[in-house]
Amino acid sequence: MGAVTPKRRFGRVVARVPVVRGWSRPAAEPHIDTAPRPYDTRVSFKDPSLRRSLSLFRAFMREQDDPEGCYSLLARDAVDQVEAYDRAVAGRVVVDVGGGSGYFTEEFRRRGAFAYLFEPDLRELGKKPPDGAVIADGYLLPLADGVADVAFSSNVLEHVADPQTFLSELVRVTRPGGLIYVSFTNWLSPWGGHEWAPWHYFGAERARARYRRRTGKDAKHTLGENLFPVHIGTTLRQVRARDDVRIVSARSRYWPFLTEAVVKAPVLREFATWNLLLILRRCPE
Ligand SMILES: C[S@@+](CC[C@H](N)C(=O)[O-])C[C@H]1O[C@@H](n2cnc3c(N)ncnc32)[C@H](O)[C@@H]1O
Repeated sequence: MGAVTPKRRFGRVVARVPVVRGWSRPAAEPHIDTAPRPYDTRVSFKDPSLRRSLSLFRAFMREQDDPEGCYSLLARDAVDQVEAYDRAVAGRVVVDVGGGSGYFTEEFRRRGAFAYLFEPDLRELGKKPPDGAVIADGYLLPLADGVADVAFSSNVLEHVADPQTFLSELVRVTRPGGLIYVSFTNWLSPWGGHEWAPWHYFGAERARARYRRRTGKDAKHTLGENLFPVHIGTTLRQVRARDDVRIVSARSRYWPFLTEAVVKAPVLREFATWNLLLILRRCPE
């Protein structure tokens, strides 16, 4: 897959696709980069652990000043999670859908995966996207059925108007037996309102207006446009109703303990999970 040029615009999304029906799996050995990682190489996380959660929390708090450090750490952590539920990603095909500027894709590549970034928004891609990044919408990926060993989507589901269709597309491109990693911040999470959290508990419009008053700038997210109220209970019911995936784990992505227990408690889970991580396995045909 080479870099592609956007050809058509609708709304703020640029949809473009190269390839890829009939795309075959890469034959060459991936390049495994064993160079030191750019951020905090000393930390070896055990997930869950208090130390890990604190490190992630500190990184989040520094996100504005040190986005590189924050997202590199988050990417390492997420790929650790994928490997913990599956196996080493080296040599495997990974699609990172809605991957923003590509920190996760780069981390998968550092570990030897054939990782591809699919991102619809040029602004999110930034100035230095990973080589071969594809400008494409997650609702309609330019990929043949079942090409991916791992379909990966971090914090995208709450940004799409139709999460079920988005999820179906991730499932479609995953091979039978492959792994699907989906995480999202649910609406009633303390971080549900994103940059205007936790004031979203008092209403999205009010929270957005407050953000503008406090910072003097417009918030990035508008409810109903690029942020949608996704709930854990509804999402779990929808996923359980599917016959093409089974849930390997439904857990809090960042919590230091009771990661699966918290998701089993209706109502409480909506407030306490913070960010739901779904690990799904694509069923055999
Ligand atoms: C909060 S960012 C997450 C970026 C990255 N995955 C991460 O975890 O840091 C949400 C991303 O979802 C992307 N997105 C929004 N709608 C999308 C769609 N329909 N298909 C694929 N990506 C989408 C946005 O462009 C943005 O890059």
